[in-house]
Amino acid sequence: MPVVVVVGAQWGDEGKGKVVDLFTESADAVVRFGGGANAGHTLVIDGAQLVTHLIPSGVLHPGTRCILGDGMVIDPRTLLDEIASCKQRGLLAGDELMVSERAHVILPYHRTLEGLREERQFAIGTTRRGIGPAYEAKAGRRGVRMRDLLRPERLRTLIEQNLDELGPVIAHYGGQPPDRAARDQMVEDGTRAGEALAPFMTDTGRYLHQAITAGQNVLLEGAQGALLDIDHGTYPFVTSSSTVAGGAAQGSGIGPTRIDRVIGISKAYVTRVGGGPFPTELGEVEAAALRKAGSEFGATTGRPRRCGWLDVPALRLAGRINGLDGLALTKLDVLSGQQQVAMCTHYRLDGELLDELPTDPVDIQRVEPVLEHFPGWTEELRAARSLDDLPQAARTYVRAIEAAVGIPLFLISIGPERRHTIELRTAFD
Ligand code: GDP
Ligand code: IMO
Ligand code: MG
Repeated sequence: MPVVVVVGAQWGDEGKGKVVDLFTESADAVVRFGGGANAGHTLVIDGAQLVTHLIPSGVLHPGTRCILGDGMVIDPRTLLDEIASCKQRGLLAGDELMVSERAHVILPYHRTLEGLREERQFAIGTTRRGIGPAYEAKAGRRGVRMRDLLRPERLRTLIEQNLDELGPVIAHYGGQPPDRAARDQMVEDGTRAGEALAPFMTDTGRYLHQAITAGQNVLLEGAQGALLDIDHGTYPFVTSSSTVAGGAAQGSGIGPTRIDRVIGISKAYVTRVGGGPFPTELGEVEAAALRKAGSEFGATTGRPRRCGWLDVPALRLAGRINGLDGLALTKLDVLSGQQQVAMCTHYRLDGELLDELPTDPVDIQRVEPVLEHFPGWTEELRAARSLDDLPQAARTYVRAIEAAVGIPLFLISIGPERRHTIELRTAFD
């Protein structure tokens, strides 16, 4: 079972980092296939925390290749800082890191433009990391790719062409278009970053093909979540990349027939950062309690996360569009102490019962969640190592989720540390 994809099944922050770190135990390579530093994946080992934004969450396993794939958008400065902070901790001491020469580059004007649009045009509540404008440039065939950082003259031409077009747009939103000195600085910074990153840059898709052919285990690490997918998410309140399992093939350069298993990560409740519809969202008082219990603050922006009950119709959509073979259910421990826990099994819309999240954003705003309530539990769960160790009420809730979604559980996470895990099935076999 050599190629496994892990994707978020909700609106991101499901605990992908923890699960990827666990699965990396059996992986020879871990690959990020999309997004950029909008992601924040938290790893907690013996109380020490590491948040990765660009480098895959397998980084704690020396010798495992950590690959930034073709589909990513990379801010070179952020990557260099992240490499430095990993090296400071003694990580990436060998030749683990590889960066796709096809990945696209985020430039300072992408962040400027995004900030202006968020303030002056239409607020999505983005992470302001320049993700949207960088993917726009890519789709518009005007993008700068990592390999272009190694060709200063080409880099200059691309930056000049892009700014000739985007300068007036920045001015239109009341911003200051980069002047000659700023443009020169971008070329110089890009060239320097290219020199520093050159040793890591390669044709990562080709490398992965050879690794898979040789029988190695490869883990593809999703960022964001299914409901933030550009095609299948709650458009327009989504990110600008393909966050689902189909995107894993495209964004890593691996053919889809090479993927053996897809596992979706879901919290035992739901959170969302940024704007957009959220059918099971709790009122401020209840949300604040869950936020506190689950430390629900953004790993990238520090923003408080919106909180709500588990949304099964949304998970059914995630299951379908990802072809999920299994679910990893995280943060079950956070629900300890709730008198009752609830799960939305369906939505009601204009007298009709829906079993999946609808397409139209206005409909998603209008749906009424149909909630099923379950008795809560007071016990702390972190010491549990098997389903039988869980209190009866927690077990009932977990089994009800599995039955309602119709996808087998591979793992239940009951705390941030590796040991806080109930493993039901192995990811690689
Ligand atoms: P990601 O973006 O999907 O990797 O998730 P984040 O790292 O942004 O957010 C998940 C947060 O929950 C992190 O702080 C994790 O350390 C933490 N976490 C992961 N699994 C569990 C769990 O089962 N229980 C608790 N209490 N925390 C968890
Ligand atoms: P991880 O990988 C949660 C959200 C933003 C915003 C929308 C678009 O840690 O799960 P963008 O900056 O991508 O253009 O923002 O997507 N968003 C995330 N929310 N977790 C993430 O990543 C996210 N990445 C983007 O809050 O609503
Ligand atoms: Mg996150």
